[in-house]
Amino acid sequence: MTSQPNILATPSSSHARPELGPALFKKRKKSNLTLIKAKYEQVATRKTQSNNYEPELGGTKFTDSPVIELPVRTAVLSLQQDNGSLHVGTSVWPCSLVLVKFAERWAPPSPDAQNPYPNLLDFHGKRAVELGAGCGAAGMGLFLLGLTDLVLTDIPAVMPALKHNLKRNKPVLGKTLKHAIVHWNKAADQAKSLSPPYDVVVATDVVYIEETVGPLVSTMEALVKDDGVVLLGYQLRSPEAHQLFWEMCERVFVIEKVPHQDLHPDYAYEEADVFVLRKKQKGGLTQDAAPDSL
Ligand SMILES: C[S@@+](CC[C@H](N)C(=O)[O-])C[C@H]1O[C@@H](n2cnc3c(N)ncnc32)[C@H](O)[C@@H]1O
Repeated sequence: MTSQPNILATPSSSHARPELGPALFKKRKKSNLTLIKAKYEQVATRKTQSNNYEPELGGTKFTDSPVIELPVRTAVLSLQQDNGSLHVGTSVWPCSLVLVKFAERWAPPSPDAQNPYPNLLDFHGKRAVELGAGCGAAGMGLFLLGLTDLVLTDIPAVMPALKHNLKRNKPVLGKTLKHAIVHWNKAADQAKSLSPPYDVVVATDVVYIEETVGPLVSTMEALVKDDGVVLLGYQLRSPEAHQLFWEMCERVFVIEKVPHQDLHPDYAYEEADVFVLRKKQKGGLTQDAAPDSL
């Protein structure tokens, strides 16, 4: 892994695609939520139209079909989404799948002898919380890879979709995973009942509204252990939110970007990234994470 990403240039490719880029946000006078849903549909359409993701070839990875299947090792998660609702959390966002498949590729026992992430992705014995879980794809996927304990969180409006998907996947997960309401603006109160800190904080595609960036970064900081990690699936959605998010993260976390070649080749796409955030040591010293400490 590289030590520091060039965060303001990440992912630069988004700017190369006007139809997916920031111009979309500036041009149209719709709410952020509507815009982000429209954007999802464009990504989904592009993926399903490409040869690799033809639905008839079994590629339900990035479609806007009502059910998305996500194979994780020998299990298959079945995620039901509703792209017609007003809430972005009722859709399964592609970088949640990218994060899970990256973790699946390298989580022990990985078939690759040159595994750069033996510690980072060894989830056994670890407690985790997912923020902005939506339909819960990322959290459920990482649970299948070994997490001992997991609570998936979101705002009240998204709870029905989250609960439905947890119930739907109970046979595969072996239990009903915990869920809780955590609104980042009220996290200081709500998170107390979750018994932080956590070894792992999971979040995918949660940076898209500038006003929520501060509370989100504070919630991440409050919930993760001093020696824990935030696993972040990321896609640039709003340039303003992007800039503020990475500026704030730089103050709190040591930021590492997973090289694209380490993502799962069948799921990676150029606009999606996986980041690993670790708390900076108190006193201003930063932790230099050598690859073998991951
Ligand atoms: C784009 S969706 C991503 C959902 C899911 N993580 C995924 O990747 O499929 C963003 C999620 O963040 C949640 N969210 C947005 N603002 C929030 C806030 N202030 N507090 C808690 N959750 C929030 C939304 O409800 C939604 O579920």
